[in-house]
Amino acid sequence: MTDASNTAQLTINGKSYDLPVLSPTAGPDVLDIRKLYAQAGVFTYDPGYTSTASCDSTITFIDGDEGVLLHRGYPIGQLAEKSHYLEVCYLLLYGELPTASALEDFEDRVTRHTMVHEQMHNFFRGFRRDAHPMATMVGVVGAMSAFYADSADVNDPWQREVASIRMIAKLPTIAAMAYKYSIGQPFVYPRNDLDYASNFLNMCFSVPAENYQVDPILSRAMDRIFTLHADHEQNASTSTVRLASSSGANPFACIAAGIACLWGPAHGGANQACLEMLKEIGTVDRIPEFIARAKDKDDPFRLMGFGHRVYKNFDPRATVMKQSADEVLDLLGIEDNPILQVAKELEKQALDDPYFAEKKLFPNVDFYSGIILEAMGFPTSMFTPIFALSRTVGWISQWKEQFSDPAHKIGRPRQLYRGETQRDYVDVENR
Ligand code: ACO
Repeated sequence: MTDASNTAQLTINGKSYDLPVLSPTAGPDVLDIRKLYAQAGVFTYDPGYTSTASCDSTITFIDGDEGVLLHRGYPIGQLAEKSHYLEVCYLLLYGELPTASALEDFEDRVTRHTMVHEQMHNFFRGFRRDAHPMATMVGVVGAMSAFYADSADVNDPWQREVASIRMIAKLPTIAAMAYKYSIGQPFVYPRNDLDYASNFLNMCFSVPAENYQVDPILSRAMDRIFTLHADHEQNASTSTVRLASSSGANPFACIAAGIACLWGPAHGGANQACLEMLKEIGTVDRIPEFIARAKDKDDPFRLMGFGHRVYKNFDPRATVMKQSADEVLDLLGIEDNPILQVAKELEKQALDDPYFAEKKLFPNVDFYSGIILEAMGFPTSMFTPIFALSRTVGWISQWKEQFSDPAHKIGRPRQLYRGETQRDYVDVENR
């Protein structure tokens, strides 16, 4: 944000207060209410933060009405088509596209941190085999602070950098281990001769008993899924990471908090919930019944993969994801996939329905990602862990940005208290 160029006036009980208006480089102006309570003695009320900017950021910009998503100014469509995940990681973390040598150096640093401490294998073994991989990931990532205490001091920029690289490098290993553990197969160590996405596929799908060749088209699709989920400004999990970090908590604890928040079906858990919904619908003829349920005020059912807090137009990530779904299913020779047919018809019928048009509900990124992931061989329980590992770079970039923001302070919202006012304690025999 630039300095306040004009002010807005707020009048309360006949008294006026000047509020600075901050001008962003893109997006709506922002009223600076930081001094409001000190000057006027009132709080603002904004559950769900629908009108509140919680920080000053230069990483990601979304115009939800136009369906625009930019990382450091670059449109997501261009990045998904021309770039690749580790280059986007560099862009998010450091602000510019890397030169060839900077990219090589970055890829080398990430690749050489992919293994996890051998003792962590025992930690995994403490979980039940049927644990949801997200439960395992929340625990294991939080426990990284016990294994990597030499990069947990948030006041040391060098340790912050090491922790960042470690998490980008190790999250795929941890997600793959959570998967292997859940199906009773041996952990597969990372391979440094493979690119980031191929290495992840290899850790998930290879077994010691035979050779596994990563298909380059699947690897490209995997990389695209990572890229499309890399960052999304101040969403619930990112805000959770920022809030956790505002107390000075170590980086691994903060990312574990982000993973926990992402798990919910209204956020990252939507990809699993969406595929389960498509399977429950099952056949095209049942779509109207589910659309009717989604519109019924007395039914809590919602069309998963539809709607977004910020996008009131097409989610630009969904457009790329839909294309990828076609490519992957075509490659695997399953273009007649009944779930894809249900998805395409559901999208069509919902978009034609005035309820969804009026409420500006469009497919979001998760509407098609589950179809691709399932076609690749992932069980639904792995969809959200894959989202989590992709989003790690976004969380870390936003977490790092906080340390260079002079306005940064501990997060501490206020409240509209509507409980009892002070009253005297009554002894139990007199109640
Ligand atoms: N199906 C049916 N109706 C919906 C849906 C949906 N998927 N989403 C919103 N609505 C309706 C609500 O009932 C509400 O109607 P009302 O005004 O008559 O009460 C209106 O649209 C606004 O909905 P809110 O819940 O107030 O919107 P909010 O911005 O808080 O919620 C959210 C956004 C959580 C994403 C919501 O659209 C939803 O639950 N979608 C399904 C879950 C999903 O796909 N989540 C993934 C989000 S993307 C991501 O995290 C990667």
